[in-house]
Amino acid sequence: MKTGIEVRDLAASYGEGRKQVSVFTDLTFKIGLGEIAMVIGPSGAGKSTLLNAVAGMHPLDSGSVVLAVDHPNGGIQHTPDQGLKPRDRRRVGIAYQKPNLWSHLNVRENLLHPQRWLLGRPRREARERADALLEAMGVSEYANAPVTDLSGGQAQRVGILRSLALEPDVLLLDEVTASQDPQNAQLVFELLRDYVQRTQCTVLTISHDMGFVERIADQVLFLADGRLRNGGPPKSVFRGETDPEIAAFVQGENAA
Ligand SMILES: Nc1ncnc2c1ncn2[C@@H]1O[C@H](COP(=O)(O)OP(=O)(O)O)[C@@H](O)[C@H]1O
Ligand SMILES: [Mg+2]
Repeated sequence: MKTGIEVRDLAASYGEGRKQVSVFTDLTFKIGLGEIAMVIGPSGAGKSTLLNAVAGMHPLDSGSVVLAVDHPNGGIQHTPDQGLKPRDRRRVGIAYQKPNLWSHLNVRENLLHPQRWLLGRPRREARERADALLEAMGVSEYANAPVTDLSGGQAQRVGILRSLALEPDVLLLDEVTASQDPQNAQLVFELLRDYVQRTQCTVLTISHDMGFVERIADQVLFLADGRLRNGGPPKSVFRGETDPEIAAFVQGENAA
């Protein structure tokens, strides 16, 4: 199997010196090329910290991360001593529950300008890509609206589109369906699936939405008490076949 993300002995913390608090140590896992892995686990377990550490946005205390390992564009490694290079950073897309859209730009410009600035794409091509994405996500009618007019769910979807506009080789998503109704969550799901199948992009995503996890994930990772366990494919996880502790967590989430 080809590898899309490989993390070894990863440790991350907050604070320094005597105030340093460890979030996790010795996390090791692999995700297949072109696969979608979902990290689940209790609130405060360190899911967001893990995502940011993998993205090169939170310092690593130890360990190594290799992104897009077997991708045709080549692997990207970072370690505590050697952060992500700017040209590699462009290949790593990231979207958050609360997207930091540029508030002085309209919706289309939020998708168009990063393509111009970061990839040097010709204006026309960038605009065509932006409009195709807006159409696919069912938000064309807001193309010219200021992003400040968007609801939380719409802004979230535009945030996902902005990362897709740059055609990343690795995509990291933190709770990006938290404000979506089931219909829009389904749209997000279809768009991601389609993108991954076309490009061999590898996705690491965090979600509390167990329905979303079941439909979209190839692999479920469970983070709790500073430890990460690979639960395998969601169907077996949800049936409690692989790991009773993960199954119990999923049941609790579904009941909540
Ligand atoms: N900026 C911060 N400074 C100090 N501690 C933090 C900070 N952000 C998160 N933490 C702590 O790190 C741990 C993991 O947080 P987080 O990664 O946000 O968990 P999750 O995403 O699973 O809810 C928690 O104990 C949280 O309180
Ligand atoms: Mg979080």
